[in-house]
Amino acid sequence: MENFDICVIGGGPAGYVAALKSALNGMKIAIIEKDKLGGTCLNRGCIPTKVLYSKAKFLNSLKSGVSGFHIDKYNYNYEDIISYKDEVVSTLVSGVSKLLKARNVSIFNGTACIISAPDKKNNISGVIKIVAKIQENNNNNNNNNNNINDKNSELEISASNIIVATGSSPAMIPVFHIDHNNIITSDEILNIKSVPKNIAIIGAGVIGCEFANIFNEFGSKVTMLELLPAILSTEDKEISKFTNKILVSKDIEIKTSIEVDNISADGKGAIVSLKTGEKINAEKVLVSIGRTLNTNNLGLKEIGVELDFKGKIKTDVHNETNIAGIYACGDIIDGPMLAHKASYDGIIASENIAGRKIEKQYSILPWSIYVNPPIGTVGLKEGDKELENIKYRVGRFSYGANGMALAMEEKEGFLKVLTEEKTGKIIGATGIGADMPELIAEITAIMHFNGTIKDAEFTIHSHPTLSEIVPEAVLDSIGEAIHKYNPRMVKK
Ligand code: NAI
Repeated sequence: MENFDICVIGGGPAGYVAALKSALNGMKIAIIEKDKLGGTCLNRGCIPTKVLYSKAKFLNSLKSGVSGFHIDKYNYNYEDIISYKDEVVSTLVSGVSKLLKARNVSIFNGTACIISAPDKKNNISGVIKIVAKIQENNNNNNNNNNNINDKNSELEISASNIIVATGSSPAMIPVFHIDHNNIITSDEILNIKSVPKNIAIIGAGVIGCEFANIFNEFGSKVTMLELLPAILSTEDKEISKFTNKILVSKDIEIKTSIEVDNISADGKGAIVSLKTGEKINAEKVLVSIGRTLNTNNLGLKEIGVELDFKGKIKTDVHNETNIAGIYACGDIIDGPMLAHKASYDGIIASENIAGRKIEKQYSILPWSIYVNPPIGTVGLKEGDKELENIKYRVGRFSYGANGMALAMEEKEGFLKVLTEEKTGKIIGATGIGADMPELIAEITAIMHFNGTIKDAEFTIHSHPTLSEIVPEAVLDSIGEAIHKYNPRMVKK
């Protein structure tokens, strides 16, 4: 049985990053993936949706017009867009594979199950069984370096450490009768070959809103059905309302506080029956009501790995589970289900296995939602429990007062920053507007270095850029934004 320093289960952003980092740390690594490397993010999530998003955004500029241009005719071919999306995905997936191979990581294509846990005290490795297609990298640098065995065979390997990074899948509930044809999840919607005339989206969270924006731009009549009273209910209330207004202005129908009774497919599409008795017909129904954890059939229960009350794997600050030598990363542990958080988790596990005691810290974790214009957030936001004991100020700056935004015809949106009254530290920011996720990246860096209002003010920003919105919003929290009229500050 071949022995490894680390066996990584799952080849998504948590797993493959842990493998790449651990290989840099000089470890002998095996990575087991039952589907394609890159996981949800590369194959069915972040990346393919961003291809569709950017095409939809381009279409929006053509439709809504750009000052000075008269575009008489334009057309698009959705199948070509899907082909381009597939091309981007396969480029990135093969990039991950090449990187792993270049670092001598052994790639196994199969389903893993932990047979026994490592016994650190007695220096005994854990054993992992791999079932199904076995694709092992023999580290040659030619194109046939994967010894693919398509037989339904089994293989056992052993490892001193195991990193579980198996991610999550779209949540399904029986009465929604997901048939993967007309009633679909975010996995299937990325591969439909034509734009549906109309689409009903169940769940107006992150995935629901991103697809509502995309299919609305491509011409579908979109209806969103949300159980809670607001869309994007976990975001800042102002952002949720602003996004709602934008989506409605684009003719997306949003029904909140509704309960779906059941969904049934008919010949041409599907019918969504609401508890009120109302029925909604749609060519496609997208169910985006959250995600479930891929923690079954991994042998976790059998070897005694502890789960929390939500079914997530319990880990300490080093991402180690209750069993020494077994680590877990990504969607299956605490924290939000985000690709970059998963990769961060992978690095934390990898560094701790290498003996560097690094503690994870999720308090300065940015995230983005790609509606048009996009949303970005980092740290605390108004309404968060943690703010109850902190005296803070709010600063705002609007895109309409930024030269670059006007030049780009992107005057819609605002950035809102929270600063702590006592220290002047920036403790959170959220906003919606062109390139907002990039603006949030700057604030994330300032927060990472414990930056204050003065740090933002004295960081020189190139002009003209959208980034000038950052110091303006930060300074506005003390009434000192340069390009904002504030009657209180004018000395008579
Ligand atoms: P979500 O938790 O963001 O939203 C699900 C929505 O469905 C909620 O608003 C919920 O109230 C609603 N809902 C639940 N049951 C319902 C029902 N029976 N009828 C109607 N509405 C119902 O989950 P979503 O959108 O599926 O996304 C899953 C995860 O993927 C999120 O945790 C998100 O962080 C991550 N993600 C992140 C992205 C990004 O960072 N840009 C993009 C896409 C997903």
